[in-house]
Amino acid sequence: MNSQRVVILTGVAGFIGFHLARFLLARGDRVIGIDNVNDYYDVTLKEARLAQLRRSKAFTFYQRDLADIAAISTALKPHQDVTHIVHLAAQAGVRHSLAAPARYVASNVQGHVTMLECARVMPGLQNFVYASSSSVYGLNTDLPFRETDAVNRPSSVYAATKRADELISEAYAHLYGFPQTGLRFFTVYGPWGRPDMAYYRFAQAILSGTPVQLYEAEGLARDFTFIDDIISGVVAAMDHPGEPGAARIFNLGGDQPTPIRDMVALLAECLGKPAHISLSPLPKTDVLSTWASLDHVSEVLGWRPKTSLKDGLGIFATWFEEYHESDGAFRKTQ
Ligand SMILES: NC(=O)c1ccc[n+]([C@@H]2O[C@H](COP(=O)([O-])OP(=O)(O)OC[C@H]3O[C@@H](n4cnc5c(N)ncnc54)[C@H](O)[C@@H]3O)[C@@H](O)[C@H]2O)c1
Repeated sequence: MNSQRVVILTGVAGFIGFHLARFLLARGDRVIGIDNVNDYYDVTLKEARLAQLRRSKAFTFYQRDLADIAAISTALKPHQDVTHIVHLAAQAGVRHSLAAPARYVASNVQGHVTMLECARVMPGLQNFVYASSSSVYGLNTDLPFRETDAVNRPSSVYAATKRADELISEAYAHLYGFPQTGLRFFTVYGPWGRPDMAYYRFAQAILSGTPVQLYEAEGLARDFTFIDDIISGVVAAMDHPGEPGAARIFNLGGDQPTPIRDMVALLAECLGKPAHISLSPLPKTDVLSTWASLDHVSEVLGWRPKTSLKDGLGIFATWFEEYHESDGAFRKTQ
């Protein structure tokens, strides 16, 4: 019997999708990647990630939009041997969802239904894993956040789309029975990261000597999670499906809630340059503080993060210096 895993991976040109694809290809899985390579942030960075993945013969890529269910079904028709789906594509970023809410609904809600519709007719599918977000905890203030907490108070349309995905998955698990796992990622950072995220923008500002824009809010903190820890968590979820009909949800966090100012100080230390702080009010889309309870995921999957924020930021800073111009723009090297 052929035991090779064949994985459909959406969002493969993105930060987390790229790292996961690299890991899966290195261990011998086949990866069928999907991404619309949109211009929400620097497309050169997405193309540079894809260029690395294309070096593997076990990688197939479709540039398609998940909102177009017919185009996705047609692309996936020849792939009847799929064993796993990891669905990471989404319009990410909480603040941008204030400006473009419809784009979030199309990519995140219709896109999720598209992948579930494909999944339910795949004969050999063993597991469907998808990205949710810590933002579903919204305006909750009881820390750490637990998977059993009520999550009815999103503070952005982005968060609401992620919660909608979890509920739609619950319905599909009930109706069709294939195992699903939703992963609530907490502020993921690392090399090949996302230029719209704060740590990346802070690095650009520190290196170019321009002001680091911080939000002025007492107690502003994030539970930062290093990319390698996220990948080991996604892989643990993928390789250990729940019972048929189960729609599991796990937090994946770094277990290191850190005031943003302390993170900036650590990053400046790693980059060897001072940070010049400038303050502005906290946008309504942003929550004050996040921290993942890891009790559930460590009990069921035996997963815990391993990378300290200092070590993770050091690895990010080394990559950042190698791949960016002095004004902070991404530089393609190969
Ligand atoms: N990075 C984090 O801190 C974080 C935190 C919580 C949740 N998440 C979730 O994890 C997943 C991956 O995030 P990321 O940080 O890698 O983001 P990313 O933006 O780098 O990757 C997402 C990818 O999805 C693609 N995409 C978007 N809409 C699409 C569509 N309609 N059709 C096809 N492709 C589409 C984009 O082009 C992009 O390459 C997302 O679902 C995101 O919401 C990320």
